Amino acid sequence: MDKKRMVSGITTTGKITLGNYIGALKNFVELQDEYDMYIFVANLHGITTPIEKEVLRQNIKQAIALYFACGLDPNKATVFLQSDVSEHSELSWILTCNTNIGELNRMTQFKDKSSKLKSSNGTEFIPSGLLMYPVLMASDILLYDADLVPVGKDQKQHIELTRSIGERMNSKYGQMFKIPEEYTPKVGAKILDLQDPTKKMSKSSDNPKSYIALLDNIDEVKRKIKSAVTDSENLIKFDPENKPGVSNLITIYSCLKNISIEDVEEFFKEKDYGVLKDEVSAAVVDLLTPIQNKYKEIYNSKQVEEWLEIGAKKAKEKAFKKINKVKNLVGLNYKKK
Ligand code: TYM
Repeated sequence: MDKKRMVSGITTTGKITLGNYIGALKNFVELQDEYDMYIFVANLHGITTPIEKEVLRQNIKQAIALYFACGLDPNKATVFLQSDVSEHSELSWILTCNTNIGELNRMTQFKDKSSKLKSSNGTEFIPSGLLMYPVLMASDILLYDADLVPVGKDQKQHIELTRSIGERMNSKYGQMFKIPEEYTPKVGAKILDLQDPTKKMSKSSDNPKSYIALLDNIDEVKRKIKSAVTDSENLIKFDPENKPGVSNLITIYSCLKNISIEDVEEFFKEKDYGVLKDEVSAAVVDLLTPIQNKYKEIYNSKQVEEWLEIGAKKAKEKAFKKINKVKNLVGLNYKKK
């Protein structure tokens, strides 16, 4: 039987964080044997908010090397750069013409990001790409007939919109897309900000103490975990509502050690927050040390370029067939192909 297909990506707006790793990247790696994986670096999404070109380039290069350093295997997964497969943008336009402005206006991420832009640059300049962002994401997914989309919790709304757009296109023009489902990890789908555990950990945060980047210096990582906000109860218990900071550290530990939340609670029974932070810190350092070593090894290697070329070629073959089917069904090809 053919393997089910998974499609996903990470946006190049900042440094890849522990949240991205636990919510997404770790699963890409763990599931690459079982699924037909299409994983890309979402550089087109990376320009939906203003970004300096050298920073963008650096983020893209880091993301690519990190994918492989974290264990994505080019012989198993199809790994590529989003903009290398122009069909993503092409399909995005066709889907844009079939998406309501109201649907896009309702997206939580659009509301958050646009209000943040307004308050930070003081102007009313909101790039329309920020509004269209979920349509491009729908294109990324529908182009490959994904069965499942491995993502963190914050992307749930975008996957729901993808499903609506896909269903609309199928009923309006004829069957063209598989309707995908989201795949979120049971534990770790929303890793929280270390300084404000009411928010998710985000790579676009202005406060570097609030997130751990996979490429952070190890001493910095330890300091960040030491200064993570907890509470004054000194009781290690998983209670996301009343103890978000402690629960977040428990979640991180559970994901990195691959043990259940209950076992983590049992392990830390009667221990204090100092011990919890030391242990979480050790687990994160154990994760990051080999990743960073591998990263340094491959960062400038020609091999990475070759892997990406192979990935883009393979993705393009699928994407090309799909875009032609879509064009035919929509009536864009004046001669039926
Ligand atoms: P992005 O770059 O914001 O995040 C990449 C992945 O990491 C997950 N994630 C988290 N998971 C747990 N805890 C967190 N604190 C956390 N922060 C982020 C995200 O849910 C995501 O899975 N639009 C997407 C990228 C994208 C995409 C796609 C994803 C573009 N096209 C098609 C899937 C399919 C984004 O900006 O993710």
